[in-house]
Amino acid sequence: MTAIRRDPLDYLGRELDSLRRQGLYRHLRVLEDEQKPKATFDHRQVVNLSSNNYLGLTTHPRLREAALEATRRLGVGSGSVRTIAGTMDIHMELERRLAAFKKTEAVVVFQSGFAANAGTVAAVLTKDDVVVSDELNHASIIDGSRLSKATIKVFPHKDVGAARKVLQELPSSQRKLLITDGVFSMDGDVGVLPELCALAEEFDCIMMVDDAHASGVFGTNGRGTIDHFGMHGRVDIQVGTLSKAIGALGGYVAGSNALIEFLYHRARPFLFSTSHPPAVAAACIAAIDVLEREPSIIDRLWDNTRFFKAGLQTLGFNTGMSESPITPVIVGEGSLAMKLSDRLFEEGVFAQGIAFPTVARDKARVRTIVTATHTRDELQFALDVFGRVGRELGILHG
Ligand SMILES: Cc1ncc(COP(=O)(O)O)c(C=O)c1O
Repeated sequence: MTAIRRDPLDYLGRELDSLRRQGLYRHLRVLEDEQKPKATFDHRQVVNLSSNNYLGLTTHPRLREAALEATRRLGVGSGSVRTIAGTMDIHMELERRLAAFKKTEAVVVFQSGFAANAGTVAAVLTKDDVVVSDELNHASIIDGSRLSKATIKVFPHKDVGAARKVLQELPSSQRKLLITDGVFSMDGDVGVLPELCALAEEFDCIMMVDDAHASGVFGTNGRGTIDHFGMHGRVDIQVGTLSKAIGALGGYVAGSNALIEFLYHRARPFLFSTSHPPAVAAACIAAIDVLEREPSIIDRLWDNTRFFKAGLQTLGFNTGMSESPITPVIVGEGSLAMKLSDRLFEEGVFAQGIAFPTVARDKARVRTIVTATHTRDELQFALDVFGRVGRELGILHG
């Protein structure tokens, strides 16, 4: 008689029950049409304040055509990792275009921004080195740091004095990587690049910036925070994503020829995971064309950002320290943030609730992101709903 096997994963069910009891269980909302400012999720048409589609490029005709043309001409897949048979002309063209756009010697493209960050940090550091990292840096930086086995020193958010103290206590001979997000994804505030670049120079650190949320948003033609702050030449490793403002999928590292050649040889996502389908590379190249030829869409993004942020603040919401199109509405308790998000959705506005462990336990929030393609009517509708639901839940008074 065979014994009935106990499910070795039954503890996962208990973890999920615990999330349900805390009101933190997350239902995946399903998008039933295109990723647009007004979209249908879970059979309901809503004003969509949850995407990273800053410039509306997910549905831009030029990108769509480029992807279709590349698919017709080159097929649907690359068939291999880059280092074996999966480097196509179109991948090299994308890297050349990105390098020119970012004003660096070279660029390597990864399958995602996550892979770019994690793969790069893990490749350039060893167990003898140190990562000095802002406490709110993205999870992919944290994971890459862990993979590298380097010592991880975390400094309080944007606290340059604390970062300096950490650096002062390290032997000058030890290799150090100082790293910050350009725009922080949960708070929408901007990294202190000039101060950190100066610190990196003083203490002879490698300087790295993750500009995932800044590329296409900050700087001339959307070149990012390095351009915004005039830091060209002072950041050794720049990471960007092709999955947010660029509207498709992927990540990249921009820097010196030596850095990029080294990553070609040592970055594990580059070595061990298949490269992009031609359609993705073609769409990204078309997106760079759009940034170079139609910078007015970035102006529209910022007009909408100013309008919506001011509207939330006038209503009386706590929008934290946001300086970008990411504007959080901070409510405190995780269950309240989820309740706010659910009620907004019922009233026709999709803004994702975010709680611990993604943000601190007492800083749960609903995160809003406007895009260049939202109309004023859509944003005003969303503000009206926010006001009504905020009063209903006791977040706003009066
Ligand atoms: C700051 C930051 N870096 C990197 C990433 C990863 O980018 P991707 O979605 O292309 O993997 C994200 C996306 O969530 C992010 O917010």
